[in-house]
Amino acid sequence: MTILLAAGFCGCTSFRQQTAEAVAVLSPTQGNSAQGTVYFSRSGDGVRIDGEIAGLRPGRHGIHIHENGDCSAPDAASAGGHYNPTGMPHGPSYAVQRHIGDLGNIEADASGIAKFSVFDHAARIDGPNSIIGHAVVVHADPDDLKTQPAGNAGKRIACGVVQKK
Ligand code: CU
Ligand code: ZN
Repeated sequence: MTILLAAGFCGCTSFRQQTAEAVAVLSPTQGNSAQGTVYFSRSGDGVRIDGEIAGLRPGRHGIHIHENGDCSAPDAASAGGHYNPTGMPHGPSYAVQRHIGDLGNIEADASGIAKFSVFDHAARIDGPNSIIGHAVVVHADPDDLKTQPAGNAGKRIACGVVQKK
């Protein structure tokens, strides 16, 4: 009983932050305040993604992995389009036909913080669909999961390159 309680308080997310294979530290783009960290861990056939982003407007925000590991432009346009090594259309994270970078949305609470822990079936740490060296981008607006080529998610408010730990 004591052990179970301790495990509950410890939390799987913080454990995975320590054991994750890759991490992206996101910085705000010019004129924005969103920032945070996203961790990537191998999990079964895919990747477990744990993250916390602060400085967001409450509500949903699109989050993707973009092609270029380059967040240097003030508006993060340098990150390019969605990471799409398989030549698929834009789609929801649960779809088979989607960009590898289509992670869907995160939801910020009333204090502007989004904490998330999701399994992603398409992203990989290694191989041809590896996300290493590409950029995580958080957007001002929700991804509608259907508009081509990028879900109409609006401006890029935070950006960080995925790096092996
Ligand atoms: Cu994006
Ligand atoms: Zn996409």
